[in-house]
Amino acid sequence: ELPKSGSVSWKSPSNIALVKYWGKKLNQIPANPSISLTLDACHTKTSVQFQEITQEQQNFSFDLFFEGEEKPAFKPKIQTFFERIESFVPFLKKYHFTIHTSNSFPHSSGIASSASGMAALALCLMEIEQKALPEMTEDFFYRKASFLARLGSGSACRSIRGSLVQWGMHKPIPESSDLYGITYPFEVNEVFEDYHDTILLVHKGQKTVSSTVGHGLMEGHPFAINRFEQAHSNLNALKSIFAEGNLAEFIKIVESEALTLHAMMMTSHPYFLLMKPDTLAILEKIWNFRRETGLHACFTLDAGANVHLLYPSSQKERTIQFVQDELVAHCENGHYICDRVGNGSKRL
Ligand code: PMV
Repeated sequence: ELPKSGSVSWKSPSNIALVKYWGKKLNQIPANPSISLTLDACHTKTSVQFQEITQEQQNFSFDLFFEGEEKPAFKPKIQTFFERIESFVPFLKKYHFTIHTSNSFPHSSGIASSASGMAALALCLMEIEQKALPEMTEDFFYRKASFLARLGSGSACRSIRGSLVQWGMHKPIPESSDLYGITYPFEVNEVFEDYHDTILLVHKGQKTVSSTVGHGLMEGHPFAINRFEQAHSNLNALKSIFAEGNLAEFIKIVESEALTLHAMMMTSHPYFLLMKPDTLAILEKIWNFRRETGLHACFTLDAGANVHLLYPSSQKERTIQFVQDELVAHCENGHYICDRVGNGSKRL
């Protein structure tokens, strides 16, 4: 039986894709499989207070507070999310919800909060459902949370658990699904369990292309079919790379994926150029650093100008020194965030 009222809270991390999700079909079905590292420091905390409403209501009833302040501007996103998941979460109209959410990273830092935010909200809803169905297995709980999060924002389905999460049908992984993310089922060398991600905030403004528009650009894109196939072959190639901890080969795939994502944006209609001069300067300096030191720092990019610098924890000292000496100058107000691989969402 559903409780009359209560409160649930979850903390969910952001994630960074190694093989990128770019292009989708109806109902948030990805056009190609993707894989990501779950992060740790960059996260969203969300609490949901729920109070039973006795009379039938026509619409969803909720208030939304972001970092303590009421934020009507964010309500349409939640409204859309609720509409998409209503048939899977039948109690949504039975409650009034008061949602409080906050991010560990500055809002408009160019770090997307949709993945961590939708993951945390989906987990809160699952915890309410679990109160009515206490016999539900842990597996079901997390899988459905990922399923719901996907309907909020595709990449959010990869922010439920850690540390390497795969999403999207991919034949060599029989348990893979378009509907939710799974923990990568094959051997992963320990070097990746403690990987670091230093996020260089090159440009903190709003993104010039929303991810909805972005995914839409892959419809009828001249290179779409090849790109989707490439994601499958990169995922295949990563299997032995993950097992062996082959960082040289890891870097080739990860950097190529990032540049391909941007190449897709540059060759669509309309076309977009989301890198800034400072983004390019950073990429070149990373290549020089690698050539000069033989270390394994590499970059990846989201659909924006910021750079994620990925490296093994054993090379942290020299890599951070390099960030401070050479890369900080290219960051807006010198801002960067030190993050690392984490183990997924936590109940608070
Ligand atoms: O989850 P969305 O719809 O915001 O799409 C995210 C797309 C990328 O961040 C560019 C790539 C990815 O796989 O996370």
